[in-house]
Amino acid sequence: MVKILGIESSCDDTGAAVLNNHTLLSNVVAGQQVHKAYGGVVPELASRAHQQNIVPVVDVALKNAGVAKQELDAIAYTKGPGLMGSLLVGASFAKALALALDIPLIEVNHMQAHVLANFIETPGESYHPPSFPFICLTVSGGHTQIVLVNDHLKMEVLGQTLDDAAGEAFDKAAKMMELPYPGGPLIDKFAKQGDPHLFEFPAPHAPGLNFSFSGLKTSFLYLLRAQTAMDSMFVSKFRNDLCASYQYAIIRVLLDKLCLASEQTGIKEIAIAGGVSANSGLRNALKECALRYGWNIYIPKMEFCTDNAAMIAVTGYYKYLVKDFADASSAPAARYPF
Ligand code: KG4
Ligand code: ZN
Repeated sequence: MVKILGIESSCDDTGAAVLNNHTLLSNVVAGQQVHKAYGGVVPELASRAHQQNIVPVVDVALKNAGVAKQELDAIAYTKGPGLMGSLLVGASFAKALALALDIPLIEVNHMQAHVLANFIETPGESYHPPSFPFICLTVSGGHTQIVLVNDHLKMEVLGQTLDDAAGEAFDKAAKMMELPYPGGPLIDKFAKQGDPHLFEFPAPHAPGLNFSFSGLKTSFLYLLRAQTAMDSMFVSKFRNDLCASYQYAIIRVLLDKLCLASEQTGIKEIAIAGGVSANSGLRNALKECALRYGWNIYIPKMEFCTDNAAMIAVTGYYKYLVKDFADASSAPAARYPF
């Protein structure tokens, strides 16, 4: 049995998790409320909050797991992509602890980890990970990708966003409606009471399996401007319908491309991952596609969709098996394609 400590600090969540092989022992995430007032993540504030949180978060993760640090076999940390000031905190901490304990240090790609969140086993719950090859739609605040997964560590990006990420499209529209950051979960909540067909948004055009969300965001802005000029209460009167219609437009794009990827590759094993995969509309729409097209679908538990360290630890486990270890020169990378 391999005991891995995972450390995540790429954006505004400080995470630590302990896994026994691919089985979860503990998963702790400290969010950062400080960004709410600014409508987005403020990198300098995120970095400072990681510094305050990292020691207690790791401490609680080890305690919850019932594992002493001397029992750890390796430490996996998020090398990138992400905010440099945030990444540096996790990287420095992971390097120092691995050195002190004299155990291997493992570099993890955050986007690869989102995909591998589908392989985390939770004790007492059924475990059916996807079989290879499968397609994963990874949708987060910083990325939107369709990934062909041939093996745990062999992945190929088939398509990605050419401008905004899906999560960004949610968050920016939420900001236009003066909802606090991050707006994705709030749009999801209000959309449940709204009419998804009341407002129509033009379908974005991006070639092949790529995405584009900036046009959608702009048409949302123009709608709000035009309508608010006539009725200053427009947003508050139609908030639920605006959320439902906008969310519907995003989900339609995501699923159209996922269908195309499945058609082109002939693969019917379909997974989703990343913060936006917590969206209830997307989860339901995916279930409908599964019935219609005979897909086997895989959706991580909510706590493994948004940023977390369990996904870093599980990726670390598969890298541990092939002895893919980092040396003392290991350093974070804000841009880090896989
Ligand atoms: O993966 P994640 O936690 O962090 C990044 O790596 O970016 O994703 C965060 C993104 C944010 O844009 C947030 O608004 C979005 O995921 N998000 C959601 C939902 N929950 C989180 N978007 C739509 N519906 C949700 N329920
Ligand atoms: Zn993420």
